Amino acid sequence: MRRLRGALLLALCAPAAGALGSEAAPPDALVRAPGCEIAARHCGACHSYRLVTAQRGDARFWTDVIRWMQRTQGLWEIEASEEARLVAYLADAYGEEAWGRRPPLSPRLLPPAPGAD
Ligand code: HEC
Repeated sequence: MRRLRGALLLALCAPAAGALGSEAAPPDALVRAPGCEIAARHCGACHSYRLVTAQRGDARFWTDVIRWMQRTQGLWEIEASEEARLVAYLADAYGEEAWGRRPPLSPRLLPPAPGAD
């Protein structure tokens, strides 16, 4: 059971709230679901989880976010099978269905970081 994985992860991954899903998790904590611990390890090192939890998108969107951050923001390489689980988690916990408004802009449409090109 992921619930028993330890106090640190409990602090980083919010309790799953049944049918309410991601909406019930505080915005600065990650929805607790399979793969949450991977996101906790990689996605809170440089910025608040709020930057992650404020976004919604499918696997393609989240893969683009990761590539954009690797290209311009210094995110490290993530091992392929781990990245696949991470993307699945993000697309599930923070997918477009969980949100009633238009999807956010693709990272490809965002301006490059200062000095990135
Ligand atoms: C090495 C540092 C670093 C790590 C690790 C990191 N990020 Fe970021 N991320 C950044 C920086 C820096 C920004 C802010 C970019 C800006 O201000 O334009 C950012 C911004 C973002 C944004 C906002 C993009 C937007 O539309 O403004 C999202 C979403 C995001 N990160 C998701 C993630 C996810 C998901 C992970 C884990 C896979 C992650 N980050 C890990 C550095 C990092």
